[in-house]
Amino acid sequence: MPVTKAVIPAAGFGTRFLPATKSLPKEMLPVVDTPTIQHVVEECVQSGITDILIVIGRGKRAIEEHFSSSSELEIRLEEKGQTGLLNQIRRISTMASIHFAWQKEQNGLGDAVSCGQTFVGSDPFALLLGDTILRSNNPEKPILRQMLDVFEEKQESVVALEEVEPHRVSRYGIAGGENLDGNVIKLNQLIEKPAAEEAPSRLAIAGRYVFRPEIFHYIAETPRGKNNEIQLTDAMVLMLQNHGMYGLRFAGKRYDIGNKLDFIKTNIELGLQREDIGQDLADYLKRIVTET
Ligand code: G1P
Repeated sequence: MPVTKAVIPAAGFGTRFLPATKSLPKEMLPVVDTPTIQHVVEECVQSGITDILIVIGRGKRAIEEHFSSSSELEIRLEEKGQTGLLNQIRRISTMASIHFAWQKEQNGLGDAVSCGQTFVGSDPFALLLGDTILRSNNPEKPILRQMLDVFEEKQESVVALEEVEPHRVSRYGIAGGENLDGNVIKLNQLIEKPAAEEAPSRLAIAGRYVFRPEIFHYIAETPRGKNNEIQLTDAMVLMLQNHGMYGLRFAGKRYDIGNKLDFIKTNIELGLQREDIGQDLADYLKRIVTET
């Protein structure tokens, strides 16, 4: 059975991006002209996902509005004959079946994921962080699709892994394990935000997961961990005692828009790749760099 469901947690405060995120959800921050979370939903759709649950909380209504249809806007674009834009706008609310769940309190990523339990039921599912864009080196195959291929072969949970610099391991969930073929790793260790000296590797969990539904059982058993929150990585540590788990070192790039510098870098890099503005942006950057 192919995996058709995805959960996207998008309830976090976005404190690293204040004051912009005081009323604007960080997941709605645009990369060029498209909200980050729409990039994430597109990755799902291109990977064969048809049903998506977005977990939201206070101050996140703009996400719901973005994915619902807007008949007034559509009529206006139709009247003006702006067919290209009209099709783009229609697609946002029709490309997948999108549902919403409400996380009452900010109790951590593990708690946010558990809000998806009723939606997921007893099926395997994908989990994608709503503030992270992953670009695959293979334009035909998004990273999530590559992870789903590993899941379909192994029938065990899979996480995306990215090598980070030593001084950054304490910001991520870090995985250790044994290398198999094709950039796949059989995991034997996971630790959330370790100090550099206790990290088993420099392989960081990169905001994409495919889970067997048993993860909900382990989240329910997980006590509060780092930051007094229910950490998803801690639930995965419990799951690893009874289930196999794999990592995919993906060939591609991760863009984390949740902090200022990375947000600006993301806009520049993905802006340069755009047909409509890429050349002008490149010319502009060359000019200001030589001027300063
Ligand atoms: C979360 C996860 C962490 C993962 C990271 C990826 O941390 O807990 O394991 O490496 O996302 O971006 P957060 O960034 O929410 O603190």
